[in-house]
Amino acid sequence: MTKFYELSTADRLAQLRTEGAIEDDDLRILSDEPALPTAVAANMVENQIGNFPVPLGLADHFVIDGEKLRVPMAVEEPSVIAAASNAAHRIARAGGFRTSVHRDGITAQIVFTGIAEDFEVLRTFVHEHEVEIRKVARDAHPSLETHGGGLRKISVVKSAEGFAQIDLLIDPGDAMGANVVNTIAEVVARYCADRLDGFDLLMAILSNDTENQRARSEARIDFDNLPTRDMDGVEVARRIVAAARFAEISPLRAATHNKGIMNGINAAVLATGNDTRNINAAAYADLNEQRRTWTKWTIDEERCQLVGRIDISLPLGSVGGAISTLPMAKLSLKLLHNPDTERLMGIVASVGLASNLSAMRALVTRGIQEGHMNLQFKSLAMSAGARPEELERVVAGLRADPAHASLETAANLLTQLRNTLK
Ligand code: MEV
Repeated sequence: MTKFYELSTADRLAQLRTEGAIEDDDLRILSDEPALPTAVAANMVENQIGNFPVPLGLADHFVIDGEKLRVPMAVEEPSVIAAASNAAHRIARAGGFRTSVHRDGITAQIVFTGIAEDFEVLRTFVHEHEVEIRKVARDAHPSLETHGGGLRKISVVKSAEGFAQIDLLIDPGDAMGANVVNTIAEVVARYCADRLDGFDLLMAILSNDTENQRARSEARIDFDNLPTRDMDGVEVARRIVAAARFAEISPLRAATHNKGIMNGINAAVLATGNDTRNINAAAYADLNEQRRTWTKWTIDEERCQLVGRIDISLPLGSVGGAISTLPMAKLSLKLLHNPDTERLMGIVASVGLASNLSAMRALVTRGIQEGHMNLQFKSLAMSAGARPEELERVVAGLRADPAHASLETAANLLTQLRNTLK
């Protein structure tokens, strides 16, 4: 049977339609109709003049907590989806990813300045008015509790230099929650400031440091599923563990190692209409000199397996905002079987782990350029107009003389090929 990645785009859509993964309306969004109608886009940003499409692809072969998935990814870098699929395939052969998620809210800070001994006044005020503060928060967003969310915890914190803050831990339900949390924070801040004579309210805003929203995923790969043409699987596994360790001790390497993880995470986050800046801010806020990356790779000698784990702050949502406005985001979630937010976090963390594995496997064996160049040649051949059955021959021609690979060369190779077949 022809593999998913070997099909043309039209045939892939036909297969998804046959499988029942998409319906006729979805087909229209994916092919003819503009994926983002001007009426929607014009109301999303200021001064809108057009849209900026990037390719949407499906990373194949994911098995996550026993469920088979093709994960939508929106990304311009040619190798990212191929890399994630390749790693997911190796991981699926040992049972797939196992995830766990911890998600109990977003912290908002209500910040006061010029606080000295009167910190105790602030603390006592919050203690004595807790019931009213909870009511003010509830009234600011009455539907939140019906969606399973709400204000979970209030703490009063004294910081250096006369700053003090009231921290609100707010569960946003299945939404990412920035709007809900900021609305509640501003209303509670005003309620407190109006009753705290002489206290200077500086601001009220959520924190993107979301240590309370973590996703973990574990992947195992049998040594037998790791070899390359010139290296056996045990050796590849050991070299991957060494590469991962080097990222933990070298800040220069950690930056690139983490970029490889973010290749997958950002593409999946963007495809689902989530806020990529928020995800990056949260994930990087978690790192420091003791913890330079989110992944860890070890060897399980007994089971002859390479074991990878990711533990990352991932403040995602599965409803609300752009997720509910962008037709493509809704479609991506449908392709993921409409996960709730916890499930989506586990899926996205798994994509990050897969991307990391693929990058390291390439780096510690033949290097990444071979794969990258093949994709680059394929893209040149397609831009020159090669049909699927002509691709391989044109790519081979480009590969034979990489220094002169260009659109012009691809077009010449295509003409030669068609002439010889006449
Ligand atoms: C390229 O987009 C990402 C890599 O550099 C990641 C890595 O080095 O681990 C291949």
